[in-house]
This record gives sequence, C-alpha cells and structure tokens, in this order.
Amino acid sequence: MRTAGAGAVTPALAGREVRIAGWVHRRRDLGGLVFLDLRDRSGVVQASAGPGWSSPEALEAVRGVGSEDVVAVRGVVNPRPEGARNPGMATGDVEVQVAELEVLNKARTPAIPVYLPPEEELPSEKLRLRHRVLDLRRHELQAKLALRHRLLLAVRNYFDRQGFLEIETPILTKPTPEGARDFLVPSRMHRGEFFALPQSPQIYKQLLMIAGFDRYVQIARCFRDEDLRADRQPEFTQIDVEASFAGPEDIYGWCEGLMAELAEVAGLEAPIPFARLTYREAMERFGCDRPDLRYSLEIRDFTPVLGELESVILRGAVAAGGRIRGFRLEGGARLARKRILGLETAARSGGAPGLLWAKVTEDGATGPLGRFFRDDTRTRLGLEAGDLLVAAAGPDGITSSALDATRGAAIEALAPPRVTEHAWLWVTGFPVFEEAGDGSLAANHHPFVQPRPSDAHLLDSEPLAVRGLAYDLVYNGTELGSGSIRIHDAELQRRILAMLGLQPDEIAAKFGFLLEALGTGAPPHGGIALGVDRLVACFSGAGSLRDVIAFPKTTTARASFEGAPAPVAEAELAALGIGVRE
Ligand code: AMO
Repeated sequence: MRTAGAGAVTPALAGREVRIAGWVHRRRDLGGLVFLDLRDRSGVVQASAGPGWSSPEALEAVRGVGSEDVVAVRGVVNPRPEGARNPGMATGDVEVQVAELEVLNKARTPAIPVYLPPEEELPSEKLRLRHRVLDLRRHELQAKLALRHRLLLAVRNYFDRQGFLEIETPILTKPTPEGARDFLVPSRMHRGEFFALPQSPQIYKQLLMIAGFDRYVQIARCFRDEDLRADRQPEFTQIDVEASFAGPEDIYGWCEGLMAELAEVAGLEAPIPFARLTYREAMERFGCDRPDLRYSLEIRDFTPVLGELESVILRGAVAAGGRIRGFRLEGGARLARKRILGLETAARSGGAPGLLWAKVTEDGATGPLGRFFRDDTRTRLGLEAGDLLVAAAGPDGITSSALDATRGAAIEALAPPRVTEHAWLWVTGFPVFEEAGDGSLAANHHPFVQPRPSDAHLLDSEPLAVRGLAYDLVYNGTELGSGSIRIHDAELQRRILAMLGLQPDEIAAKFGFLLEALGTGAPPHGGIALGVDRLVACFSGAGSLRDVIAFPKTTTARASFEGAPAPVAEAELAALGIGVRE
C-alpha cells in the first residue's frame, strides 16, 4: 500500500513518486491550496494539493478529509521553496504533491485531539485514558513504547550473551503471601479452590535453580492487588533474574553491565561501578533507603550542640533517648515563611510532629529554634549567615522519614546544584526482619533472604539486628530493582518461616513444596528483579508509569478504555461456586 513511511520522505526522495498512507494529522485549506499533514508511526509529512499538480478530483478528495481519517496519497516529492521550509519537522524540507488521494477509512470526529497546536494543553489524563487508542497515536507515547521495545530487546540479548536462559513461569500459581496481596482466580474444576496470579516469579525461579538451570532470566508480568501509588501499577513487568553459585558481587556485575548497555540505548549514562551505601548509612545520612544522590544534601546529627539549648522540646527528646538531626540549608534564610512552612508540612507528612528551624543572620539567629541559640551555637555548628537550619528531634524511626520528606521539599524549594545527572546506587545489607504492628516479626522483603553469615548468631537474641544478603538498585531516588541471595538450606528456611509466626502445619501447607525442593540438593543461589515500567519511565523522562504502558490501569485500579474490572453474570459465578456478598 505504500512505498515510504511518512517520516521517511526526505530530500533524498526529491523528484520521485511515492505512495504514503496514514492518518490525517491536520488539514489547512488556503483557498487555492490545501495542505495535509499525514502521520504514521515513522513521523509526519506535508502533502499539498493545488491546481498546478492535482486533478480537480484529487483537490476535491483532499478538501473532503477530516482529522484522523485514514488515507493513502500518491504524489511526487518536491523540495519546498526557501520560505516554506519547516526546520521543526524532520521532513520539513519537502512536501508530497498530491496526484491522487484515496480515503481508506473515515474517522468519527476524535473525542480528544491527536494533533495539538504548540500552545494548547493536553486533555486531562482521565479523558486520555478513556480514549487511550487516540492518545496512543501521539508521537510522545509511541516514542516511549518504542524505547521500551528497544530496551527489552537489549535486555534479552545481554542476558543471552551471559549464558542466561529465558524460561516462562506459570501465571496460574499457588496463593503465596509475599508481603502484598494476591489477585485470586477461582478454579471451575475444583470448586472452592483458587489460583493466584504471581506477585513475582520468586519461588519458581528458585525452583529452577534447584532444578539445575543455573542462570535464568524472564521478562515477567507480575500482579499485586495493593493500594496504588505514583510508582506502582497492579500489573507490571520485571526483568527477573536468578543465578546459581553466585554471590552479591556477581549480581552487581551483571546488573551494572546491563544498565550501562541500556543507558546507551536510551542515550543516558551509567558509569560503572555504581556507588554503594549500606542500609544503615543510607538511613543515617539521607533518612531513606533509596536516596536521590543527584544532590549532596546530607542529614547531620546536631544532638551534642542543640541538645544543650534551653528548650523543653530538645531536652525532652534527648532525655527520651532520641536525637536531633537535620540539615544545614545553604542560603535557605532567603526562603519566605510560606516556603519554610512547606518544609514543615513535608516533615509532618513524614511522621514528625513538626520541624524546628533557625534563620541564621549576621548577628544571630531567628525562628523557633534560632531563638534558643547561644553565642557559640552558630560557630559550633559551622553555620554561615544566610543559612537555614532545619531539624527534627525524636527517635530515629520518626526523624528519618521526616527528614527524608524534608530533604525532598528543600531540594524543590532551593534547587541546589546537582552533583550528577545520573546517580546510580546500590543499597546493601537490608535487615531480614521488620517489626509488624503487633510487635511480631515480619519479613522486610520476602521470607527467602539469606541472613548475613556474620549476623546469624543474632537470629534468636536480636532478630531485628540481623542483616540480610539483600540489595536494592536505586537510580535518581527511584528503586529500580531489589534482590538477595536466598536461603538454600531447608532447615534454615523452616526456622525463618517459624520466626515469622507460621505454625508447622501452615509451613507445610504454604511452603512444603519449596522445602521439599530445597531438600533435594539446592545450590547456593540469588538474584534480583528490576522494574521494567520504572526503568522505562526513568529513561524516557515520563512523569508516570502510565506513560510507558500501552493500556495501564488508572489510579483507582481500573482499565478505563475497555472497562475492567466488570461484574459477571450470576450463572457464571454459580458455575464457579461463588457468590458475591454485599
Ligand atoms: P520487589 O517486590 O522489590 O522484589 O520488586 C522488584 C522491583 O519490581 C518493581 N515493582 C513495581 N513496579 C511497578 N508497579 C509495582 N506495583 C511494583 N512492585 C515492584 C520495582 C521493584 O524494585 N521477587 C522479588 C525480587 C527478588 O528478590 O529477586 C521482588 O519481586 O522496580
């Protein structure tokens, strides 16, 4: 149907006849002349119809088309006259002089525009998701999905070269608690029993290692019925990796090599090796386990100096065993009170009751914290006139998250210079356990993480202090991936599951198959899973995961184009032995 893509009509084709086909991007009728912008995946080219080169029928046909009609055009490629060139368009030096136009399919008036004049804003995302097919015709979204394709192709080639096999694991799986919620699928053949969609192929990839596959990779779809956040979709994709006879350094090496290649595909940088921080350091210096190291701003411990000031809040926090930590914000004294209140709101969102602050001036300090300053406070803290000191007092568990939130807000308010555009980081040594609300132990990541051998003696006495051979990959403050070396000893696995509060019969029912496999001769193994959607969003500068998924779910976990989830007929439910309760 066509001899060239619209975007491929360049001066190299000047004088040649081409046949192009695509959508009517826009049409401008200048009376004697009619211009059509014709769009396909490769780009947009201008077609012109005029009495000199178009038959009256062709002119008539061009006048009759509307936005998003699908047409085929035959004509000669003509260099545009000097003043009519468009340097903003890849094909802007030429046009196709319409000899013939065939309407392949008419379009209804589009519900949302595909062509947007430069000054016009996009329709709301809600509307765009409702009319996703039209929205996907925009070049920006097509480019993001094309990048996704190129990245995944590079992932497969990379792991193939490293000797990994791509093996598909089941989508209908055994319901397994992995820290988040399962989507359940009722079984028609076995009434009252359910499959679960995989939250990740975690156990299957471990089984594959035990089965001797040595190196596994899968571009794996995962499903989690959890509350959505900006960086989460209920259905998402992982680059899931597992290897036998491998330690953390092997996993870091493979991932760094991969990221360097993927960054090149996307035109970014991933200089290797990546920086590393332990979990404890990350929490101490940045208040979170995925710090954005594009900025150097670090938490400092002001307890020795501020704890001495005559303030009930400060003294009380220290007496209760807490610390006073915060930031010296260079030049922050220029922030208006409203902006400082914004920092305080951030600290509150992070769990602190408030934020203490002091504006440092030439002759002292002001603000709720500044008024307690003694003569030597400023010099002892190394503060300069024009600085803003912000601090949170209390237990680390609260001040860390508060200061993390404050750091983000301060960076936004003060826009400090970046130390790099691409901050890659491994965070290592995550704790194996965390405290569940009721004081019992929960798995910090999942229950298969191998405790560090050097911490194993703390398992009974101080389980919360046990660090795991677990690591996260962080890029510009986004957690791109997470993994660990796994427990390969059946007894240790049983012990950890018991520590998590599972009774022997529960362990047998839920994890018996894993324990059975571990008992057959399991090699030491470990791996990682990298989030494809987050990776593509980061690499394409997308504001949302929804921009890198062809048919994403909305923030309320609905598919709004096709309309899902949807009720099903009573008879269908009955066949599954299911009733819906109000
Ligand atoms: P985890 O649950 O940390 O680990 O997930 C690994 C990576 O997957 C991505 N990710 C998500 N992306 C979009 N939407 C979501 N809802 C979502 N949840 C996770 C993130 C995350 O870093 N089986 C383990 C991995 C392992 O131990 O090998 C796992 O799934 O980028």
